[in-house]
Amino acid sequence: MTRAPETGAELLERRRIFSDRLAVDSGGHLAIAGISAADLVARFGSPLIVSVEDTIATNYERLLAAFRKRWKGDVQVLYSLKCNNNLAIRALLSRLGAGGDCFGDAELRATLDMGTNPAHVALNGSDKTPDQIARAMESGVTINIDGIDELCFIEAVHRRTGLLAKTNLRLKILPDALNQVMRGSGLKHGAGVESVRRAKWGFTEGTALPILQALLVSHAVKMTGFSCHIGHLSTDPLAFRSIADAFGRAVTRLSLATGFVPLVLDIGGGWAREREPEQRADDVQITPIEAQVEAAVAALEAALAPLAARPTLWVEPGRYIVGNAQVLLAGVGAVKTDAGLRWVHVDASTNNLQRIETGGFVHDILPASRMHDDMDHVTQVVGGTCFRSVIAADRSLPALQRHDLIAVLDAGMYAEVFANQFNGVPRPAGVLVCRDGSVELIRAAETYQDIFACHIVPARFAPVPEE
Ligand SMILES: Cc1ncc(COP(=O)(O)O)c(C=O)c1O
Repeated sequence: MTRAPETGAELLERRRIFSDRLAVDSGGHLAIAGISAADLVARFGSPLIVSVEDTIATNYERLLAAFRKRWKGDVQVLYSLKCNNNLAIRALLSRLGAGGDCFGDAELRATLDMGTNPAHVALNGSDKTPDQIARAMESGVTINIDGIDELCFIEAVHRRTGLLAKTNLRLKILPDALNQVMRGSGLKHGAGVESVRRAKWGFTEGTALPILQALLVSHAVKMTGFSCHIGHLSTDPLAFRSIADAFGRAVTRLSLATGFVPLVLDIGGGWAREREPEQRADDVQITPIEAQVEAAVAALEAALAPLAARPTLWVEPGRYIVGNAQVLLAGVGAVKTDAGLRWVHVDASTNNLQRIETGGFVHDILPASRMHDDMDHVTQVVGGTCFRSVIAADRSLPALQRHDLIAVLDAGMYAEVFANQFNGVPRPAGVLVCRDGSVELIRAAETYQDIFACHIVPARFAPVPEE
């Protein structure tokens, strides 16, 4: 029996997650936080990145509540700027009380400039420069130590200024369970531990011990705790449990060996959302954040039991907070049918969604201007660049025509930050739909001039104007 084709409205209901603010208006258009997608594009142009304040705030508050309810000490959520570095989003999260995880000088400066409390900021990175270390110490943020040179840089700043560096030591943990939980990431069985071992971040316990001892005796250092970030490996609670367990055990052994009692434990990011393009399929069941947190906190608390310490817990989510908080709207251009295929060009491309090319992401796509039409046309949704630029292959959509609109969901994570200008295509504008129903421009569309703004043509090559 053949199934009747689904409509965009039905697809939205099937794939909706709790903090989506998406609906269908009376004209059959997608509405984002109450504003018609067509109106947004009419006002701000296409393509357009639409951020939703309420989604960001709801995701942040739910994650924070999940940890606060389960962890018996204090909890701070440090938003990971690398995931989406839009300054308005960073400033909004600072207002909500979020700290920050940053990597390198620009992220550190942007995090602080947007009002984040330095007491809740961690500077990560495996090759921090003397300048980054100096800025971190001057601003009072915590340095997650990931290289022995960092102690030399810290001591040099201390000699010059008398300032102390707050430091967590970043650990590399290699629980056997990684082999099991990383199977879904395309790795061969047994390759999970090896993949993490080969990643440049953190120190294994044996290497960490003498570094910890050196940090503890340095007059330039106020040792605060330990950090660990394995990344988004799996959505299986076993992943969160085994990482937290291995981290907690390593922390306990290092603390007992040195007498140091950690004040802070930073357990990193990688928290899974309930709809994830990075799963490369739409049928993956993802455990809610509460179950992930339950698994991690129970394991961490058990592993820390011998310490009788209740450090403040830091978490560094990126994708969980902003993943579904941005929708990319794109207008339909040329439609071409040949060789048994139907290509629908849109004015966005994989320039704007690089992780489709580099990570195989599969995004849900809604026919934003025809939400009630049957999606009975197998469509290749492509951008106009001279890359293949396949945004979605063999996707069921209505009979889209020029001037229709599509909406790419979950465009908030690792999209704008990886976007490029291939073929000289300017990056699009971004707007924020606010909780009070207003819409604000938070990123100006780039222009032709912006694309070439940093290029310098030596005078001797400069074109000579014709007489
Ligand atoms: C140190 C660190 N913390 C946090 C994150 C954020 O991870 P996610 O966006 O998966 O939550 C990353 C991402 O790579 C990271 O490297």
